[in-house]
Amino acid sequence: MICVRVLGAAAGGGFPQWNANSEACRRARAGDPAARAATQASIAVSADERHWFIVNASPDLRQQIEANRSLQPTNGLRSSPISGIVLTNGDVDAIAGLLHLREGTQLQLYAHPAVLKVLDENPVFDVVDRAIVPRRPLELEVWQPLCPASGEKSGLEVKAFALPGKVPLYREGETGEDAMFDADGFTLGLEIRGGGARFAYVANCGAITDAVAARLAGMPLAFIDGTLFTDDEMILQGVGRKTGRRMGHVSISGADGSLERLKPLGIGRKIFIHINNTNPILLADSPERRQVEAEGFEVAHDGMEVRL
Ligand code: MLT
Ligand code: MN
Repeated sequence: MICVRVLGAAAGGGFPQWNANSEACRRARAGDPAARAATQASIAVSADERHWFIVNASPDLRQQIEANRSLQPTNGLRSSPISGIVLTNGDVDAIAGLLHLREGTQLQLYAHPAVLKVLDENPVFDVVDRAIVPRRPLELEVWQPLCPASGEKSGLEVKAFALPGKVPLYREGETGEDAMFDADGFTLGLEIRGGGARFAYVANCGAITDAVAARLAGMPLAFIDGTLFTDDEMILQGVGRKTGRRMGHVSISGADGSLERLKPLGIGRKIFIHINNTNPILLADSPERRQVEAEGFEVAHDGMEVRL
């Protein structure tokens, strides 16, 4: 069996976002139960409920650990049930939380060499001591065991695969518009398996290409990029100039959207995650939420648990 815990359901910035004064964010701040606040996207995965691996180290990681009993220490004066971190990209909302993990507990850090290079080149991340937190390259299309530092078996294996995506925002200035989307290793999907179960994590994905669709077909569970409902919603809401496409995120609606593309693939559970504060599916009483649920999709929330 695999246990998956959603630590954070929201995209970068969270919900509410610190500088956002939209009606949705105001409702979340007011504690409206139909506008549940959400931290930045991350999941914790375990096959034995003793060793946990966290997919993406969100800037909210400390708060997420305090909100999830199973991630808190139970042994001695210093310990953690967190055995390792797996990064799917180098965006700030996926790596900033590494800085929370600098207090000398052994962990394994898995990421694509392109993302490890970003960490290696940025001395701020040296606070996470490599002697204690070794950096392990993720190879594409290869099953790799996720190993606790103790050498025990976690019972989990991961296989990373390339997704359409983009270089991190802070690298955009170094490339032209085209090269930005030609960003090997900067956007990974993960298949994770253990104890006879498996699922996919595709929380940053620029398009549901035929290759992505083939990968997800028949999957018992898939977490899906739920950043935007409509490609131009940030522009229409007057809070940004970028489309989802430009940000490297496929939208939910539209002929090429994730809803239409993923519906026919026989995926057991389809759960949107990495949901931007502009996306109306965050609101339990919105027509868009009703639509995705009617089409057989779910919307992640902080604390959601899935066992398979
Ligand atoms: C994204 O998912 O597009 C990024 O998190 C954006 C950002 O780095 O702010
Ligand atoms: Mn993001």
